Amino acid sequence: NKGKYEHYMQKEIHEQPESLTTTMRGRLIRGGSCKAKSVLLGGLKDHLKTIRRSRRIVFIGCGTSYNAALAARPILEELSGIPVTMEIASDLLDRQGPIYREDTAVFVSQSGETADTLQALEYALENGALCVGITNTVGSAIARNTHCGVHINAGCEIGVASTKAYTSQIVVMAMLALAIGDDTISSQARRGAIIDGLFDLPSKVKEVLKLDQEMKDLAKLLIAEQSLLVFGRGYNYATALEGALKVKEVALMHSEGILAGEMKHGPLALVDETLPIVVIATRDACFSKQQSVIQQLHARKGRLIVMCTKGDAASVCVGGSSRIIEVPRVEDCLQPVINIVPLQLLAYHLTVLRGYNVDQPRNLAKSVTTQ
Ligand code: UD1
Ligand code: M6R
Repeated sequence: NKGKYEHYMQKEIHEQPESLTTTMRGRLIRGGSCKAKSVLLGGLKDHLKTIRRSRRIVFIGCGTSYNAALAARPILEELSGIPVTMEIASDLLDRQGPIYREDTAVFVSQSGETADTLQALEYALENGALCVGITNTVGSAIARNTHCGVHINAGCEIGVASTKAYTSQIVVMAMLALAIGDDTISSQARRGAIIDGLFDLPSKVKEVLKLDQEMKDLAKLLIAEQSLLVFGRGYNYATALEGALKVKEVALMHSEGILAGEMKHGPLALVDETLPIVVIATRDACFSKQQSVIQQLHARKGRLIVMCTKGDAASVCVGGSSRIIEVPRVEDCLQPVINIVPLQLLAYHLTVLRGYNVDQPRNLAKSVTTQ
C-alpha cells in the first residue's frame, strides 16, 4: 500500500524517520546516574567475546548493502581496533579469496536471498569463520544460515532501489561497532556521543527530508544530462557510491561515485564547464581536504553542486557559482545516514521527470537470486 505516495521508492524514502526508529527500538540504553549509555543487540550478545577476539572483520555484500557496510567501516575500525576489510560477494568468490577460522565474516543483505552473498556465506562457513548476518528479512536464507546476526527491522522494502534498508543497515552496523567496543573505557565518551546521535537521528532525517522540493528543482536542471559525478571521502565515500548507484539504477543516467582523494589520479581529466559534479563536504575530519578539492574543481570551471553542513555555505562556496545543498549536522559517523537522503530524493525526481519506471527499473530485480 503506497498510501499518499505515488511510488514505493518515494514512500520508502519518506518513511525513514519511522524505519530508523524501528531499527533502534529496544536496542539503545539511555543510561542514567549509575548506568552507562549502551547498546543491546539480542542476536549478538552471546557472540561478542568471539567477535572481539577475531583477527579480522570482513564485510561481504552486493550493491547497496556493500555500500552500507563501507559507510560503517570507519567507525567499526575505530571502536573495535580490529582490521576491517570489504568484499563484494561475487569478487570474493571469483578470487576464492582467503577467509580464516579467526575471521568474523559479516553478511549484509536486505533480502537475505542474494545468490552471490549466499554462496559467499557457504564458502565462509566451509572455511570456519564466525558468520554474522545483517538482514531485513526474518527467515531468509542468510538469516537462517549465519551463526548469529541482527535483523534491521526496517519493514518491507518494495522499490527495487534500496533506500530505507540502506540507512537502517548503517545504523545497525554503527550499533554493532558500539557493542563490540563496549568494554573499552577510553572510548566511552565517544560512544556516548554516538548513542545520543542515534537518539536524535530520526528527527534529523525528518529535517533533511524537507529538501524534497529543492531536490526536485535540482532534478529539473539535470534532466537532460548524460552523466553526474559524486565526490566523497572518509565516512562519505560510501555516500558518493550509493548516490551514484541510485542515479544510474532508477534515473538511467550514467553516474559515478568518486573517492575525492583519487581525483588527481584520473577523474580530474573529465572536469569541464558542462559536467555536473556533486561534492560532499559536510563537517568532519576531512572537511579542509574537501574544501581544497572544491577549489581545484572550481579552478577547472567544474559545475559544482556542494553538499555542506547547515550554515557552512560561505565556507564551501568559491566564486559564488556553486549550487548548495545544506544538511543538518550529526555525529560524524552517522552523517552518511543524513547525506544520502537528498541524493535519494534527487534520483527519485530525476526518474519521474525523465519518465522512467521508478519502482521497477528495466533489467533489474529486487532480489538477485541467480548468478
Ligand atoms: C528478538 C525478536 C524480536 C523481539 C526481541 C525481544 C525475532 C526475529 N526477533 O529480537 O521479535 O522483540 O527479540 O527481545 O524473533 N539472526 C541470525 N542471522 C541474521 C539475523 C538474525 O542468525 O542474519 C539471529 C540472531 O542471532 C538471533 C535471532 O536471529 O538469534 C533474532 O535476531 P534479532 O531479531 O536481531 O534479535 P532481537 O533484536 O533480540
Ligand atoms: O537484498 P540485498 O541487499 O542482498 O541486495 C543487494 C543488491 O542487489 C541491492 O542492494 C541492489 O544493488 C539494489 N537494487 C540497489 O538499490
